[in-house]
Amino acid sequence: MTLAADLLDIATRIAREAGDLAARRRREGVEIATKSVAADIVTAADREVEAFIRAELERERPEDGFFGEESDAHESSSGVTWVVDPIDGTVNYAYGIPAWAVSIAAVEGSADPAEWTAIVGVVYNPVSGEMFRATRDGGAWLGEERLAVNDQVGPAGGLVATGFGYDPATHAPTLERLARVMPVARDIRRIGAASLDLASVAAGRVDAYYEKGTNPWDHAAGVLLVEEAGGMVGGSPGGRPGKGMVIAAGPGFYGRIADALETEE
Ligand code: IPD
Repeated sequence: MTLAADLLDIATRIAREAGDLAARRRREGVEIATKSVAADIVTAADREVEAFIRAELERERPEDGFFGEESDAHESSSGVTWVVDPIDGTVNYAYGIPAWAVSIAAVEGSADPAEWTAIVGVVYNPVSGEMFRATRDGGAWLGEERLAVNDQVGPAGGLVATGFGYDPATHAPTLERLARVMPVARDIRRIGAASLDLASVAAGRVDAYYEKGTNPWDHAAGVLLVEEAGGMVGGSPGGRPGKGMVIAAGPGFYGRIADALETEE
């Protein structure tokens, strides 16, 4: 078995068990605490599910690094680091909207999204039961279906997913950016989980996704899904996807949305 196939098996099993644990905790009731700003929340389940994923990864691959949303990073001695969001879409999770996911990526190289190479990515929505998975050069998959981005976007424009930051200080620039994108959009979707937005680009359910301010664990697995589904992913002009910007779309539409966003200072 290749390293990527082995890591994919591990990530898939752990994502499924972690997602099912989170779903069980949701049925039992959700305890909420505030994080960076009032709208940025964490549930007891986020922390418990990350601890579960971390312990399972440590048992399977003790030399690997860990970089997750809810706990301290741990450096890799194998060259592989796991980038984990235990519950992406925490607000949906707290409200009971069935659009949240466990996102797990394995990356090689530095534990910095500007430098790493993702080799495996899985995004699991426990409510729908959908497990999106990708390995570098091995394609992106949903069950037995190989995923492919939409590349034909007609004159009505693309169906564009995006996200809004929690910090009120980001709201005005976020809305200005949205106004610049509207001329190339047939409509907008704000689903509430960046990993699922990226999985939706990979699956051709939306034509594009962009967002400023996401963290590496929100997009590490989803970016690989899009790339392996034949899409393009970038960041701020000429840069890689990161906190500054993530843009993902099929090659035929990417330039139009990147141009609309590039007018930013
Ligand atoms: C958030 C979601 C949301 C996006 C935010 C993320 P979290 O992640 O992905 O869709 O707009 O930027 O922080 O906090 O639910 O893990």
